[in-house]
Amino acid sequence: MKVISFNGSPRVGGNTEILLNEAEKAVQAAGHDVKRFNLNKLQIKPCQDCGGCEKTGVCVIKDDMTGIYQAIRDADRIILASPVFFFGLSAQTKMVIDRSQAFWCEKYLLKQPLAEGPNGRKGLLLLVGGMKKDIGIQCSEATAKAFFRSVSVPEHETLGFLEVDQKGAIVQHETAMGDAYHAGERLVAI
Ligand SMILES: Cc1cc2nc3c(=O)[nH]c(=O)nc-3n(C[C@H](O)[C@H](O)[C@H](O)COP(=O)(O)O)c2cc1C
Repeated sequence: MKVISFNGSPRVGGNTEILLNEAEKAVQAAGHDVKRFNLNKLQIKPCQDCGGCEKTGVCVIKDDMTGIYQAIRDADRIILASPVFFFGLSAQTKMVIDRSQAFWCEKYLLKQPLAEGPNGRKGLLLLVGGMKKDIGIQCSEATAKAFFRSVSVPEHETLGFLEVDQKGAIVQHETAMGDAYHAGERLVAI
């Protein structure tokens, strides 16, 4: 299975990355490689709403999204991992989602949804926030759901952890590490 992941946190060794490592470990243990995109390291311009993709489904901007477009197109499984920033996804994550407007156009305007492989397309959303309020999880979930459906991922699981703020604090969480590992297992189970 082709499995790709997006790490939307800028904090190296932070909570998002630790959770993502756990989920990926399970995917790898099941015999699948994971191609990870560390979004903070990539050059990705925000969507310009130029309408360029409306008639073609192809974005006119040429940057590091070019490789991501192809990876999303080919993927059987997509893991999206982000910290909660100001009640939503990180800017690094949102940039990829907005640029996926090209897939939205391809699916909804051109009526050409991405093709499913024999194992279907599934997603996993991993979220970490420092606050008690779960509105950040709810808002992030709504945006991520719109992304997943636009790239023809009809079902995804969401794991959201709150009150995890200090770098690396997620490892002290009672269930998070095991939860992420098991979600990785379920993601690639047939
Ligand atoms: C710019 C910024 C905005 C944040 N906004 C929120 C927020 O709205 N809600 C929340 O629960 N946590 C918020 N946090 C806390 C982070 O989500 C939390 O520290 C998280 O563990 C960071 O994950 P990381 O270690 O993977 O970067 C914010 C942190 C930063 C730096």
